[in-house]
Parts: sequence; structure tokens; C-alpha cells
Amino acid sequence: MNEKIALFTIFGGTGDLAKRKLYPSLFRLYRKGNLAEHFAVIGTARRDWSDDHYREIVRDTIKDLNPTAEEAEAFSSHFYYQSHNVNDSEHYDTLKKLSDTLNDKYELGGNHIYYLAMAPQFFGTIVQHLKSQGILTDNGFDRLVIEKPFGSDYDSAYQLNEEIRAVFPEKDIFRIDHYLGKEMIQNISAIRFANNIFESQWNNRYIDNVQITFAESLGVEDRGGYYEHSGALKDMVQNHILQVVALLAMEPPVAFSEAEIRAEKVKALQAIRLYSEKEALENFVRGQYGQGKLDDQEFIRYRDEPNVDEHSQTETFVAGKFLIDNFRWSGVPFYIRTGKRLTEKGTRINIVFKQVPVNVFKDDIDKCGEKTDLPPNVLTIYIQPTEGFSMTLNGKEIGQGFTTTPVKLDYRHSAETTGNSPEAYEKLLLDSLNGDGTNFSHWDEVAQSWRIVDIIRHAWDKTSVDFPNYAAGSMGPDAAFDLLEQDGFSWDWQPDVWYRERG
Ligand code: BG6
Repeated sequence: MNEKIALFTIFGGTGDLAKRKLYPSLFRLYRKGNLAEHFAVIGTARRDWSDDHYREIVRDTIKDLNPTAEEAEAFSSHFYYQSHNVNDSEHYDTLKKLSDTLNDKYELGGNHIYYLAMAPQFFGTIVQHLKSQGILTDNGFDRLVIEKPFGSDYDSAYQLNEEIRAVFPEKDIFRIDHYLGKEMIQNISAIRFANNIFESQWNNRYIDNVQITFAESLGVEDRGGYYEHSGALKDMVQNHILQVVALLAMEPPVAFSEAEIRAEKVKALQAIRLYSEKEALENFVRGQYGQGKLDDQEFIRYRDEPNVDEHSQTETFVAGKFLIDNFRWSGVPFYIRTGKRLTEKGTRINIVFKQVPVNVFKDDIDKCGEKTDLPPNVLTIYIQPTEGFSMTLNGKEIGQGFTTTPVKLDYRHSAETTGNSPEAYEKLLLDSLNGDGTNFSHWDEVAQSWRIVDIIRHAWDKTSVDFPNYAAGSMGPDAAFDLLEQDGFSWDWQPDVWYRERG
């Protein structure tokens, strides 16, 4: 058993994130023995809850994991609730008393993780109070875990970072990007660096273009208030997508360690071309969903969702092209697209290889009497809902004559059916307990991502688009398809639904 010892203080302990992700993930760690006797959790928020009520809520959040009654009882007995106003110094004194008591009771050695599962405007106040009220200890560790959004542009992110860094050193700050906890995002490095067959080809001599799709079938749900100020660019591209671009584009690190990987990711992000605003408009397109239908279900338009302005100019879809100006990637476009209310939920990456230098089969006639084209080899990395990867090659069709046909080598499983894939939050919580920041976003990465995204945002803010411009249930606006077609490419060359459904 690899037991970790720590006290978690979760700010925003009554919130959605805590209930949906944190408590179930802590329970999974508890079940595996990573958390056992020497841990405690203080949930804090404005509401006036008792410990008993809090524990009941915690038990409710883990019921899908089918704990026995004793297990649920034993796990939840480690949870304590403290009603808290983040602006009131006295409350931090109460929090300190409770922390000290729990530290002694559970023998926690002063190990402390502060998890800020709440709006970032409170981050600065909270960390300053943690320092001024003497809550941070000299024993054990004090680590800070924070959720996105980390700022709303470069300047605000810089300001926020300064406030946090005045209290916590970078090594103790864990900025969550939950995609970095996903099994197949972590697998990108295994695919690249454990297979010579790919790494030797991983450059502009052999790769034609890279396509990254983060599609969601859900709409904005009840997050209209947040999303109106964010939009898809800040919600998905600034963080998750640019992290994936960095992992795909970075040079092989000299060791698989936090410092080496971070250094390579930062270099990759720095090599992404900073467009002029004019270029940003040419290379990025935005969309907003209108009414639509999918599988016989009708969906309302974004502008009719709760807490959304009826004239909203917020984008629910982004597609764009990043160019990476270094020796490895010069000339290889990295296309990205993400959106809400698309045809299906699916995150995947296509690495599209260049054609063979000469197509010696170009005069072959297939069954339909057409000349056969050689489709490119494509390595597809499936992030979710299925996990795995496939490689599309060309082979000879069995039978008389000589016709080539694409063959797909497919290695995939569904995380739900194998049950083996740990939840992203479970992995990241364990990493924070281990003090391993590899799968978190470091400040240099965050800063560079904002520089890239700010230019696009500024260009968009000066212009408007006739929204809505794609139907709910489609794969986004026409402009997203044109973006690739004008370069002679297309999303997913394979004839699947994502290719066919235009907005
Ligand atoms: C979050 C975004 O970061 O990621 C959401 O704020 C989005 O808008 C979510 O729905 C997607 O995450 P996942 O893990 O469901 O693909």
C-alpha cells in the first residue's frame, strides 16, 4: 500500500466540481489505499452546513461507485465542514484551529493541499490570508491546486500569477488542466517516444498536417453566465488544445521528468507563430450554434439558452490553423476545431502523413470503374469516448487484378467497459499528493498560450459575425471546412460522419 498523508482544504466544497469530480476521485484513491487513515478533508464554502450534513452529501456523491455502507461511512468520517467567508480574516483563524486539530488527530505531519475549486477572482484573497493568518506551516508541505480559468487574458493571468507567487513558489502550484490527466493525452508521449516507427517520421518531411478535434454534443447547459464571458476560444483552446499541440509538437525530452518535459513544451509553444490580427482573421473561424436536430431531438439555439444574451456574439465553436516556426514543423499546419452541440462527443487527433513520392498504382481502376486514389496514411489517437489509436495503411484488395484499398489497424477500448482508466481528477490528485507537477500547466506555458489566444480574441472583438452560423447537431460552420479545403486538405479523410456533416 502506498499511503499518502495530507490534509485537503477544499474552497468551494459545496460546489459542482467538488461533488462531481473531487469527492468521487478521493474515494477512488481511498479504495486503492492511496488514502487510508492519515488523511482528512475540510470542505469550506459560504453555506452553513454541519459535518453530518456534509458527510451525507459526500456519501451521496460516491454512490455510483457502489461502496458498502461501512466503506462509505469510514471514508466520509474523514470529512469536516467549515462555513467560510473568504474575505473575513477571522474565518481563517477558525480554519487554522480546525487544521491544527485534524493535523494532530490524523497525524498528518503538516502536509497540506489547498484546493481552490471556485471563481479565480478569489484566488488572490485566499492565498494572502493563508499567509497572513499563519496557516501555512513549516512542517510537511503546503501545495496549492487551482482550477481554470487562469485569468481572462495575458495581463490578468500575469496579475493573478504575481499574487499567487507572492505566497507559493512555482513548484508548489498545481494548475489543473484536466485533459492532462486523461489516459490518452498521457499516451501521446508513449506513442511518440516509445515507438521508433513514429518518432523517426515525426517531422515536416513525412507529416502533411495534423488535425485536432475536440467535439462536444452537449450545449452550454447551465453555464451560460460563465460561458458568455469565455467562449470556446478561452474555454478550450487557450488551455486544453494548446497543451495538446505542445505535447504533439515538442522535441523529445532528454528524460521523462517534469523539468525536461516542461522545458520542451514551452519551447514548442514559443515556436507557434504569433499572427498579426489580419492573419488571425484569415486563419481562425468562429461559430455559434443555432436551432437544430440530432437523432430526432430538437435543440434550441445558443442565444435562447439560460443566462445568454439574445444578441450574444460569444462563439461556441472555433476552428483554426496554428503554424509552428521551427526546423521540425515548418510548413506543417496544425488544424484545430472544438465546439458545443456538434454531431457527437469525441476527442481525437489525426496525424496525416505525406503521400508516397510517386503513386505507381495511379492507373488502377476500382470496382466502380474509377481510378483509385491512394489515401494518405493516418495515425489517429482517440482520446475519448473510446481510447486507443489506429493506423490507416494501404493494402491490396484480395482477388483478381490489382486494386489498392485502405486497411485500418485499430487498437481501441472503451474506458467504461474495461474500467481500468483512472478518472483524470484521480490521477491529478494523486500527482499533487506526490508533488509531481508533470501533468499540470506551468506558468510559462499559460503565459505563452494567452499571448497566442489574445491576438485572435482582439481581432475578433473588432469584427462581428452573423451568428448563429451552424445548426446544432452538425459539425460546425462551412468556414471550418473551407479552412482546410483551401489548403488542399480535409477534416478526416475517412468517410465518417464527422466529415459529411457540414453546418
Ligand atoms: C471544460 C470546459 O474545461 O472541459 C467545458 O470548461 C467542457 O466547457 C469540458 O465541456 C470538456 O471536458 P471533457 O472532459 O468532458 O471532454
